[in-house]
Amino acid sequence: MNGKIIRFITSNKHKFEEVKSLVEERNSDLELLWVKLKYPELQGNSLAEIAIGSLGTVLSALSTEENEYYFLEDAGLFIKALNGFPGPYSSYVFETLGWEGILSLLWNKDDRDAEFRSVCAVYFNGEIRTFTGTIKGRISFQGKGNEGFGFDPIFVPDGAEKTFAEMNIEEKNNFSHRVRSVSLMIDWILNT
Ligand code: IMP
Repeated sequence: MNGKIIRFITSNKHKFEEVKSLVEERNSDLELLWVKLKYPELQGNSLAEIAIGSLGTVLSALSTEENEYYFLEDAGLFIKALNGFPGPYSSYVFETLGWEGILSLLWNKDDRDAEFRSVCAVYFNGEIRTFTGTIKGRISFQGKGNEGFGFDPIFVPDGAEKTFAEMNIEEKNNFSHRVRSVSLMIDWILNT
C-alpha cells in the first residue's frame, strides 16, 4: 500500500467523479479525498496563473497536513475562430452566455476547431507545481447530450463522433483534458 493521500479541492461534483474514476482505473493505491469547497476564482490571463492564484487563496484558509497533496484544477475552452476566446474567461462566459451563447457567436463560422485545456495546481510540503492537459476537437453545430457539465454538449473531441455530453464518464475520460493533466500529476506523485 502506497498510502498517499490526495485532496481535490472543488465544488464541482462532475469534476470529482471524473477524477475519481481515473484514480480507480489507475489502481495505484492513492486515496482521493474531496475537499468540497467553492473558492473565488481569480481572474488571470492564463489557466496556470488562475490555478496557482486560486490554490494560494484556498491554502491560506486551510490547515494542511504534511505529506499530503492538495490540488485544484482550472479548465478553459479555446476556440480558434474566436482567437482563443473564451479561454481563461470560460467560467464567466459560461455563467453569462452558456454554451448556447458560444453557438450564437459561431453561427456564421465554418471553422469549428477548438481545444479544451486543463491545468492542475498541486501543493505538497510547501511547494506548488502545475500539470497541463489538452484535447483538440470541434464545436458542434447543435448542443447534444445530457451527461457531464459546462460546455460538454457542444464539444466533440478528435477521434469521436459525439459530444462529451453524449458520453459516460469512462468514455469522456478516454479523451479528456482533465484526465491528461491529472494523469501527469499522478505520475509525479507516484514518483515522489
Ligand atoms: P473551471 O474554471 O475549471 O470550472 O471551468 C471553466 C468553465 O469551463 C466552466 O464554465 C466549466 O463549466 C467549463 N468546463 C470546465 N471543464 C469542462 C469540461 O470538462 N467540459 C465542459 N465544460 C467544462
